[in-house]
Amino acid sequence: MAEKNEAKDRRKSPLVTPSDLGQESVKNISGALNALLADVYALYFKTKNFHWHISGPHFRDYHLLLDEHGDQIFTIGDDIAERVRKIGGTTIRSIGHISRLQRSKDNDADYVDPMDMLSELREDNKALIARMREAHDLCDEAGDVATTSLLEVWIDEAERRVWFLFEATRAREYSAVAASGRG
Ligand SMILES: [Fe+2]
Repeated sequence: MAEKNEAKDRRKSPLVTPSDLGQESVKNISGALNALLADVYALYFKTKNFHWHISGPHFRDYHLLLDEHGDQIFTIGDDIAERVRKIGGTTIRSIGHISRLQRSKDNDADYVDPMDMLSELREDNKALIARMREAHDLCDEAGDVATTSLLEVWIDEAERRVWFLFEATRAREYSAVAASGRG
């Protein structure tokens, strides 16, 4: 078993970028970032799914908003993967790999109400923020200042997405209040 692991380590050695963070930290940070990367790509795809399938009177607004969110989410994916490689870890290799690591849930329903789409994305982005904060704590403890600083920017961007999605989904609350006032 030990020999097998040694051979595996030897094969992977060309991919071990030198880092002063220490083996244990590299392993832990890479694990956290790869799980985050899987969530980011899953959320990217769901955002595009809803961008393509949204319908109704606010189609143009929501279609464009989700396009903007999709672009933002896709961009951070590459930065996350490259952080993993910069510190000497290896990262995601396929859609299958993403599906094994993702914690964020897909939505393959044939039809989703537009307000339900926006609410679901709002909650997914909130969950992503919580996971980025966890990764931030881990990187902070290990002294990985470059990843913590990127995470701070990505959290800010995700909070902006939550803000827009929150405001867009308030229409539902207003109509519920108006309907109860009429009764
Ligand atoms: Fe598009």
